Amino acid sequence: MIVIGLRVVCLASAVIALSDPATDLPRFGKPLNNLTVSVGREAIFTCIVENLGPYKVAWLRVDTQTILTIASHVITKNHRISVTHSGHRTWSLHIRDTRETDRGWYMCQVNTDPMSSNTGFLEVVVPPDILDYPTSTDMIVREGSNVTLRCAATGTPEPTVTWRREAGGRITLSTWHDAQVLEGPDLELIRVTRQQMGPYLCIASNGVPPSVSKRILLVVHFPPMIQIENQLIGAYENQSLVLECTSEAYPRPIVYWTRPTNETIVNDNNYKMDLTTSGYVTTMRLKIKSIRPQDYGSFQCMATNSLGETDGKIKLYKIPKPPSTRKPNSRRDSKKYWKIDQKRTQETGEIKDELSLKDEDDEDSMDFQSSTSDGSSHQSSPSHIPALLILTLALRLTS
Ligand SMILES: *[C@@H]1O[C@H](CO)[C@@H](O)[C@H](O)[C@H]1NC(C)=O
Ligand SMILES: *[C@@H]1O[C@H](CO)[C@@H](O)[C@H](O)[C@H]1NC(C)=O
Ligand SMILES: *[C@@H]1O[C@H](CO)[C@@H](O)[C@H](O)[C@H]1NC(C)=O
Ligand SMILES: *[C@@H]1O[C@H](CO)[C@@H](O)[C@H](O)[C@H]1NC(C)=O
Repeated sequence: MIVIGLRVVCLASAVIALSDPATDLPRFGKPLNNLTVSVGREAIFTCIVENLGPYKVAWLRVDTQTILTIASHVITKNHRISVTHSGHRTWSLHIRDTRETDRGWYMCQVNTDPMSSNTGFLEVVVPPDILDYPTSTDMIVREGSNVTLRCAATGTPEPTVTWRREAGGRITLSTWHDAQVLEGPDLELIRVTRQQMGPYLCIASNGVPPSVSKRILLVVHFPPMIQIENQLIGAYENQSLVLECTSEAYPRPIVYWTRPTNETIVNDNNYKMDLTTSGYVTTMRLKIKSIRPQDYGSFQCMATNSLGETDGKIKLYKIPKPPSTRKPNSRRDSKKYWKIDQKRTQETGEIKDELSLKDEDDEDSMDFQSSTSDGSSHQSSPSHIPALLILTLALRLTS
């Protein structure tokens, strides 16, 4: 094939205007555009040549110095390449199903002497992807250990990786550093706490849609802990009462109650247990329908998981039955007394004559998540609220 000294001489001159109108030589209508396409899409370079006359238009790949097409013939063996033209003026190079290897400089050349050419750059962009390996899978760690969540992303241009918690909220890196969103392929958590348990999202984006994300669940294991608000409760005989313990543990603990004889309690006519669980917090309640003499003493709530066991004690002591101005058999009244007793043991040691509903509200409005780490000041779980609401309603009805 007589490929008339088609040589790749490029870059220096973006547009060579062969502007001798007298001789009617070919000249380029406009410079070649640079192209940006997503991998897999078709790229089309268009070269406009005025006064082509007997000359021919060829397309070349500059980087590899290969001739792709001459006039309407495809020279390369690459089946994804084709050429179209509209009259003698407009010549288009088509690259179907683009690959990353197609990225580079392309040249439209006319075989004048000296030859004239025009070049354009093809950028092939690739949307981000998250590699299964070495991206982290769901993790189970002991509380207090260090853990690194890793997200390996590819794409062109190179993607940025950001981390956030699926449920929202801040990511704590250390006592002095936390943020809503963190950037970088590795998320290093130092001395991980139970509050850091939950799903995390790593999101990779590079401006080429779509962005991708991966969900990584971090599970933090720790032995049970029990908190009790009222460890000493005065109650009169035949009164009804609710005992409550809050346990934090993960894996979720097995929980039960024992009565003063150290026997494990089973639900019967007089005792009824219930549980509410939210994340790693389990609230255990024991409802005693009517206090009997054998109930005075220590009840224990027990929590056990694979990492340990713990117990909490609630001691019941006997108080005289209150004056009969209060309707003796009213369930509401008996609840009231329990609440009064709570106040007495907590604060002054004296029975208050009236209930302060505001105090109750204040107790419940405390953030129960934030006070869990030291184990000493834990407040009731949100599941406590309905009971108090009922109590509040009951009190409003009776007062
Ligand atoms: C094409 O891109 C190159 C750099 O990649 C730049 O130098 C050149 O000016 C661009 N050409 C056009 C027509 O935008
Ligand atoms: C966790 O990382 C901190 C800070 O880098 C280090 O002081 C500590 O020893 C590490 N703990 C463990 C269990 O590796
Ligand atoms: C408690 O109730 C039982 C049976 O209902 C009754 O025999 C007993 O006298 C009551 N005790 C008190 C202190 O009221
Ligand atoms: C219950 O067990 C505790 C120790 O766990 C013991 O001190 C107490 O005497 C026991 N009570 C009875 C009634 O067995």
